Amino acid sequence: MYFKTRTHTCGELRENNIDENVVLNGWVDTRRDLGGLIFIDLRDRYGITQIVFEPNFNKEAHEAAGSLRSEFVISVEGKVRKRPEGTENPALPTGQVDVMVNKLVILNEAKTPPFSIKDEIDTSEDIRLKYRYLDLRRPLVQKNILMRHKMYQVARKYFDNNNFVEVETPVLMKSTPEGARDYLVPSRLHKGKFYALPQSPQQYKQLLMVSGLDRYFQIVKCFRDEDLRADRQPEFTQIDVEMSFIDQENIFGIVEGLMKVFYKEIWNCELDLPIPRLTFDEALEKYGSDKPDLRYGLEMVTLNNVFANTTFKVFQDHIKNKGIITGLLAPSCGEYTRNQLDVITDFVKKLGAGGLIWMRVKDNDLEAPIAKFLTGEEKKNLIAALKAKPGDLIFILTGPRHKALSIMGSLRTEMARRLDLINADSAPKLLWITDFPLFEWDEQTHRYYAMHHPFTSPKLEDIEFMESDPARVRARAYDLVLNGSEIAGGSIRIHNAELQAKMFKALGISDEEAEYKFGFLMNAFKYGAPPHGGIAFGFDRLAMIFAGEKSIREVIAFPKTASAVSIMDDAPSTVDEEQLKELHIKIR
Ligand code: AMO
Repeated sequence: MYFKTRTHTCGELRENNIDENVVLNGWVDTRRDLGGLIFIDLRDRYGITQIVFEPNFNKEAHEAAGSLRSEFVISVEGKVRKRPEGTENPALPTGQVDVMVNKLVILNEAKTPPFSIKDEIDTSEDIRLKYRYLDLRRPLVQKNILMRHKMYQVARKYFDNNNFVEVETPVLMKSTPEGARDYLVPSRLHKGKFYALPQSPQQYKQLLMVSGLDRYFQIVKCFRDEDLRADRQPEFTQIDVEMSFIDQENIFGIVEGLMKVFYKEIWNCELDLPIPRLTFDEALEKYGSDKPDLRYGLEMVTLNNVFANTTFKVFQDHIKNKGIITGLLAPSCGEYTRNQLDVITDFVKKLGAGGLIWMRVKDNDLEAPIAKFLTGEEKKNLIAALKAKPGDLIFILTGPRHKALSIMGSLRTEMARRLDLINADSAPKLLWITDFPLFEWDEQTHRYYAMHHPFTSPKLEDIEFMESDPARVRARAYDLVLNGSEIAGGSIRIHNAELQAKMFKALGISDEEAEYKFGFLMNAFKYGAPPHGGIAFGFDRLAMIFAGEKSIREVIAFPKTASAVSIMDDAPSTVDEEQLKELHIKIR
């Protein structure tokens, strides 16, 4: 069909275009018929322009416009005019003008869409995802996609300016599970063998350091078959980085520089550097989490010292058993009803706490079921330790250190929600978490796992405890946290074969298993591996926070649902018997 290509986009015309003859192409957004006139809002990715069909101006075009419906794709030719006084629309950048149409070409008709292409729709996410190509027509969704595009460009430019080399690494690789389950791809040519999709390019980027590439980055898809949440997808994107001849400070410097340009380019605000740091232990003790949200205070306080000489049995037992007594002040919550306190107690019990101690702060006293077990001195010190004021409420949890602190951390988040401490104006809060434990004990399998991954270096001064006391070994690992979300994680790597072998041993990975799974990396290290380290950003999470969204699905063009399904194209799906046969696979 013959049509004229546009002279302007639908977001472009202004008063200085008045009297010009223009051609616009786009989608019919809305249609209004008024006293014989037809007004159409014509939409494309750049905006909306009002076009007018008037029988006196052009009878033929007006007649043709009679059949126009929402989402028809059209091309119009016409003359820009100043809108009649009183009909301007200051909400639109093009709102001072409209286009009097003298020629209409319908490029394509459209079925009535399952939801209106408007920002303020109330449609289930499933329907939005089934018709994602229509959802993506909505300005808000497009805004997220365009912002994401800008973030790619900012990142690429930044790394290029800093001498980094972008290298693509394979998508079909050897299965070497790093923590999550691998997605496997059966080989047709090699019966019974499988490729795996990379959980991250971790080993390749380390090999690139052995190759002398020195500074690598890649914006790369990663695949993990794990339980999904609002901030997790089975395939997600990382900004992956690795550097040679560096220490942690160099990596922090590069990352902080990148965050500064993101703040400037995306949020148009200054990020003050350096980004504050907390060790893993400090974060756990103050916030009960290794990704604390610092947009609000509500710091937890360890109370073991306050109750060092207590006669209260519960506290005594925990102090004796190297447990922890942790307190949280809920400001101005002293009037919470018994019912409210029961709900909060249930909240922590569901997380595994035995119970929750609460106390109402009064003038120079505490009112609580357990108050009678505490001395006046203890009460005074408790009030001082928590900086409590009359009218406040104190929560106390006891238990094994990690468990009690984590549960109190969840209660801290819950109280912030109840007290409405986060709002749209809260300044974003970035922080580094450093000095993670190297190992994590798993109760179910009764063994240690690498908290980050098996290539992370222990702190040099802790190497001596790798065998005797693995739990106390700290890693040269770090995470970057933004508004309570882990947006990046990385480490300084082990670069010598001997220490790597020691690490595998501590993880209970036999020599044969290590050779089978990671032999190529170990071998490479024998040919001169430079000291190196790196980090990877969860790009989707980063984009989600920069876009002010609560789910990463809002910043991914074609996301999967929480059950790893693509509703639009129906993946995963069954395949032909013939395809299975070629792959030597039988479904049981
Ligand atoms: P890690 O496993 O911490 O490190 O991943 C880095 C970052 O990726 C993001 N992320 C995810 N985002 C969305 N969906 C998921 N399923 C998902 N899983 C992780 C997080 C996380 O901080 N190779 C190492 C990096 C390194 O050591 O350099 C790695 O992959 O934001």
